[in-house]
Amino acid sequence: MRRLLVTGGAGFIGANFCHYWSATHPAHRLVVLDALTYAGNLASIEPLLQSQHLRFVHGDICDEQRVTALIREERIDTVVNFAAESHVDRSIEDPQSFLRTNIMGTHALLEAARAAWPQPSGGSYRFHHVSTDEVYGSLAPADPAFTESTPYAPNSPYSASKAAADHIVRAYVHTYGMPCTISNCSNNYGPYQFPEKLLPLCILNILEGRPLPIYGDGLQIRDWLHVQDHCRAIDLIVHSSGSGETWNVGGGSTEPNIRIVEAVCDLVDEEFRQRPELKTRYPRAAPAHDGSSRSLMQHVRDRPGHDRRYAVDGSKIARLGFATTTPLRAGLAATVRWYLENESWWRAIVTREYRNWYARQYAGARA
Ligand code: NAD
Ligand code: TYD
Repeated sequence: MRRLLVTGGAGFIGANFCHYWSATHPAHRLVVLDALTYAGNLASIEPLLQSQHLRFVHGDICDEQRVTALIREERIDTVVNFAAESHVDRSIEDPQSFLRTNIMGTHALLEAARAAWPQPSGGSYRFHHVSTDEVYGSLAPADPAFTESTPYAPNSPYSASKAAADHIVRAYVHTYGMPCTISNCSNNYGPYQFPEKLLPLCILNILEGRPLPIYGDGLQIRDWLHVQDHCRAIDLIVHSSGSGETWNVGGGSTEPNIRIVEAVCDLVDEEFRQRPELKTRYPRAAPAHDGSSRSLMQHVRDRPGHDRRYAVDGSKIARLGFATTTPLRAGLAATVRWYLENESWWRAIVTREYRNWYARQYAGARA
């Protein structure tokens, strides 16, 4: 039986991970540590808060003393670090908070685990750090997909901060013998994603009749991974990987952004055709007036330094026994339905902070 500290467990992937882990390992202890920034939302783990197996702690991963005490008090043997500033566009506006949480926060967590755990820690301890494929930089059209030995070449303040954290984790394995693993995953999608990210942003904008902003030509390629598949991959790594290993996790579904947005438009339109009551619930949506959501697509100015192409070679983790189970189209359809069914969840987080951010980000952005 494991006792996990899940940092960032009120965010998108962390919350999905808490649901996944509670269902898959119901006897395990989960302690969620989250600072509840604009991206953290207790409603995402609401039903789990009643469980005696889960404790929520409102706190900052940079608070090393507090985290050390928490690891000792809860006899944590497994840390899974999701806590981060995660949005590339915000890192362009305010890099500093990314350096603080993503680099200094990861370092504080490592120090806390090192202080609280026996040295050497032995096989029952694990510090798993969740990172991104963005640390590898951008691929040219003919380049092979990222492997675990692709050199790091981060291009945004976000990816640079994640790369720095990965290097610190690696250094703690080699210098102190800390029992760490790292996963570098591709773009996640699914329930509970904050609406600043491409997919939920498009779904909610369609429902509210707002433009769908396509950065530049929209031909940037991302590898789409359903969050549930990502959670299964982390489970496998925590249970089956040796310490010091890094693992790429991709969805095996590379698509240009514009194709993803078109697919979302068509899926929403189809839902409106199947369910006439949606026309009353979302009267501003184009399909409420038998229009096409695609008519809302609008090319806007490109993100500075926008990476052109990501693709993940997942053959190493495939050898560990991992395969994705959610095909992209089925995953997108389920995600669209989830946002249609969970209006109260997303209405509550479309707060003033988000509206201000949105206004700044997209003001005069038409290309
Ligand atoms: P998110 O922004 O949705 O959630 C981040 C969570 O961390 C929030 O709950 C926030 O309150 C919390 N947090 C932020 N600063 C904190 C601090 N100082 N102390 C404690 N908690 C803090 O992010 P996400 O999309 O769920 O991403 C989770 C992890 O996965 C991140 O490390 C991210 O870099 C990585 N990742 C995400 C994606 C993706 O597509 N979303 C892809 C690759 C890697
Ligand atoms: P995003 O969801 O921000 O993830 P990341 O930058 O980590 O890949 O964006 C996914 C892709 O979609 C990325 O290439 C940027 C692009 N994008 C848009 O074209 N328009 C938007 O409004 C947003 C938020 C993203």
